[in-house]
Amino acid sequence: MKTVSRRQALALGIAGTGAVAVGGGGLLLARSPFRPKAGGRLNEPENLSSQKRELKLRLEAAPAQIMVAGRVASVAAYNSSLPGPTLRLHAGDRLRVTLVNRLDVATNLHVHGLHVSPAGNGDNSFLRVEPGESFDYEYDLPANHPTGTFWYHPHHHGSVADQVAAGLYGAIIVEDLEGLPITRERLLLISDISLTGSGSLRPPSAAEQMMGREGETVLVNGQVRPVLSAISGDRERWRVINACPARYLRLRLEGSRHQVLALDGRSLGVPAQVEEVRLAPGNRADLLVEAVKGKSILRAAPFNRGSMPGMMGGAMPPRNGPVDLLSLDTSGAPLSDLPPVPPTGRPRDLRKEAVAARRRLNFSMGMGMGSGMSPAGMEFTINGKEFDAGRIDEIVSVGSVEEWTLTNSSPMDHPMHLHVWPMQVIQDSGQSIPGTTWQDVVNIPARGEVKVLVSFDDFPGRTVFHCHILDHEDLGMMGVIEAR
Ligand code: C2O
Ligand code: CU
Ligand code: CU
Repeated sequence: MKTVSRRQALALGIAGTGAVAVGGGGLLLARSPFRPKAGGRLNEPENLSSQKRELKLRLEAAPAQIMVAGRVASVAAYNSSLPGPTLRLHAGDRLRVTLVNRLDVATNLHVHGLHVSPAGNGDNSFLRVEPGESFDYEYDLPANHPTGTFWYHPHHHGSVADQVAAGLYGAIIVEDLEGLPITRERLLLISDISLTGSGSLRPPSAAEQMMGREGETVLVNGQVRPVLSAISGDRERWRVINACPARYLRLRLEGSRHQVLALDGRSLGVPAQVEEVRLAPGNRADLLVEAVKGKSILRAAPFNRGSMPGMMGGAMPPRNGPVDLLSLDTSGAPLSDLPPVPPTGRPRDLRKEAVAARRRLNFSMGMGMGSGMSPAGMEFTINGKEFDAGRIDEIVSVGSVEEWTLTNSSPMDHPMHLHVWPMQVIQDSGQSIPGTTWQDVVNIPARGEVKVLVSFDDFPGRTVFHCHILDHEDLGMMGVIEAR
């Protein structure tokens, strides 16, 4: 018996041949484990910057034999680069991407977090680009588009997790108008991948898909535990992206001071001093790091995101221990405090605006009658419904502010993502959120509840909201919203 994802991986043209044996129950046995090579200087993908208000590029999604974790691996990548090229834009720019599909399966492109039109050849997740075909996307960033860190990845329903897990993702940066007082900035795109000893992709089991697959090797810009170096007194901006299909990152920089400048490409106004930054799949954080002494480690602590419904014994302990992501070596004499960074403007607070409508979305998992989406008949639903591209689930008015209550009746966390319009988080499990926090992926804890405000500024059209555990999205945990 072959699992669905085995077939999907074969269709991607990237599954291992011979290195992976498929057992009777879908059990996968690799002949030898993958041995990543750690260390080495951090590499960053190529930067492509807009010129004269426009960035035009060709993005080819294709199987690729490239270096991943210090070894040659057979993955899928954009322009043979993992991560794909970094797209650097300014507010008011036009981004034109010719997506060329050299995979053996349909794909498309999503610009995660950008506030652009979801219609036509814009950020339209309903489009489908067949193998061998190409499509010209065009995105117009409004003149007041927030500056910050965003990303791109495929969004073809049913194979998003497979395609992202295979290596298809890249960063989008909307540059600041005025520079921050920093020494340098770095991109840290974090992803995870499961490879066999021969460097082929290892397809997930049905159970891994239902739980949300976590790759065995965690990568920073395609490397394992790269090394960064700085000089004491340097102040750096780190743009961190969680591109993992299901893994949460509880990030701590042990040994250096860091502040959060922005979450999901939206400035906090005043940088926040925190011990830990938690990034659900899809989230980004812009950190301000002060290199003050010796060696610091960026570490992801384990995170318990719950269990499958029907599992005995309550929550499942996190499978993975802490993961060291990179180290920062600082030379020079230790310094005392650097001057503080000036505030970067005050974010909009929707709590001061009139709410036009309220709605509730409940995320749930259960054994259904089995529409057949999920390998084991588990249903992944929002308000009791599996995704249907032909149905409109929510209709909102352009220009209105709404309050959404997001509930989770399952024993597992679900990170909820809404395209086009960011959400202001105002309440989590009954506690109101201090300050002004904007995110485009908001975690709904297992059996918990979160309240958000959304302002449907601009852009009539149809788009989606979904769980950003990409396997859950593929299994049906997605809905359609239309703004009129
Ligand atoms: Cu990053 Cu609809 O996704
Ligand atoms: Cu998105
Ligand atoms: Cu989910």
